[in-house]
Amino acid sequence: MADKIGPQGLTPEQLEAYVPALVEGIEAIRQKKESGDLPLLRLPERRDDLPEMHQIADRYRNFFEDVVVLGTGGSSLGGRALYTMADPDKRGLAPRLHIVTNVDPFGFNRVIRHLDRRKTGWIVISKSGGTAETLMQFLSVLPLLRTTLGDARIKEHVTIITEPGDNPLRKLAKEFDLPVLDHDPKVGGRYSVLSVVGLLPTLIAGLDATAVREGAADILNRTLSAKDPLTADPALGAAISVGLNKNAGILAHVMLAYSDRLGSLSRWYRQLWAESLGKKGEGTTPIYGTGPVDQHSQLQLWLDGPADKMFTVLSGPLEEDTENVGPGTVDPVDPTLAKLTGMDYLAGRTLAELMDASRRGTSETLIQHGKPVRRIHFDAINEYALGGIMMHFMLETILSAHLLNVDPFDQPAVEHGKKLTRQYLFDLQN
Ligand code: PA5
Repeated sequence: MADKIGPQGLTPEQLEAYVPALVEGIEAIRQKKESGDLPLLRLPERRDDLPEMHQIADRYRNFFEDVVVLGTGGSSLGGRALYTMADPDKRGLAPRLHIVTNVDPFGFNRVIRHLDRRKTGWIVISKSGGTAETLMQFLSVLPLLRTTLGDARIKEHVTIITEPGDNPLRKLAKEFDLPVLDHDPKVGGRYSVLSVVGLLPTLIAGLDATAVREGAADILNRTLSAKDPLTADPALGAAISVGLNKNAGILAHVMLAYSDRLGSLSRWYRQLWAESLGKKGEGTTPIYGTGPVDQHSQLQLWLDGPADKMFTVLSGPLEEDTENVGPGTVDPVDPTLAKLTGMDYLAGRTLAELMDASRRGTSETLIQHGKPVRRIHFDAINEYALGGIMMHFMLETILSAHLLNVDPFDQPAVEHGKKLTRQYLFDLQN
């Protein structure tokens, strides 16, 4: 099949052509780490900020049954990716975490109205402190807290994360005497998962924040010490992604996770890649999917539609036996029942085996159709692995930006839409 269709890929020469720029890009990252210009690169080794986070997390864990995180974009996607990865059965007596990212009143009210406000903690995250959606969320909730708790006690239930200086969220914090944790102004929202933004919710959920940073440090150090950039996975990934875009007509990148626990990682990645690279006509469109379910809605297009996509297939260990999960869970398929359906090949098989066979079948089919496929398999899905893969994607994105000559840390185009939103709200008053 591959011979007939022709594989969509890069020649060794096309890949090698990126080596000088990658050497330069990695050196720039090394220098920025050493000078402290890019504090994101120092976060993996930081431990000094953890005691304060632990203290708050312990208080939230001890006093609250529910914790609501308000924030959007980079202020919540990283925390959600880490939280989704966790096995709820292994988080101990953690409060239920609700990461509320949208302002659709339907979803918002359905979370809020079921909470016992006396037993609920809130974390409000906005780097700028002025994002309309997040402010609107918090401003909508505040009157409820005033009624239930009284102004003097709101501070026991709310923690604000925002950058220093004067901003609308700080004004509210001052007015109600709320505790504030600083968001480092030099760590952009979509790069903030290793800071208090991603790690406070992680700790509240009963996860190991140090392991997240250790995983990130491992990938960062390995990348910075690579002799040949093409042996450093993030640099190789950048060369392949940019190379396929420039030489093979690739316009979109599908991240297909064969694990529900990795689903939110693809959503976090989607923001990172899109907002960092989509500039000056550059960039490719990140698309997320979950296997095998999206095979039933997307695969036809992927195989037989425009040949403009590359694929990253994510997988990790799946629960193999019911002993791990306890009673009340499903067993392998009863052979008698399978026979009855005529689907004998399902006899004795598990959900995990079907999931894995689907992953292998789909990856192979894509490859045989000549599509560029990258497979990333986790030996374990845990804090260390997630910290590592998130650092991998951050470095891959920064290095891709270097190859494309765009600034990975700004997002000038979104400002126009924000301005119009403010204008339309203002018009409602007049
Ligand atoms: O990555 C980014 O900079 C953005 O996606 C922001 O995270 C998002 O707009 C939310 O901004 P803020 O944290 O200022 O409320």
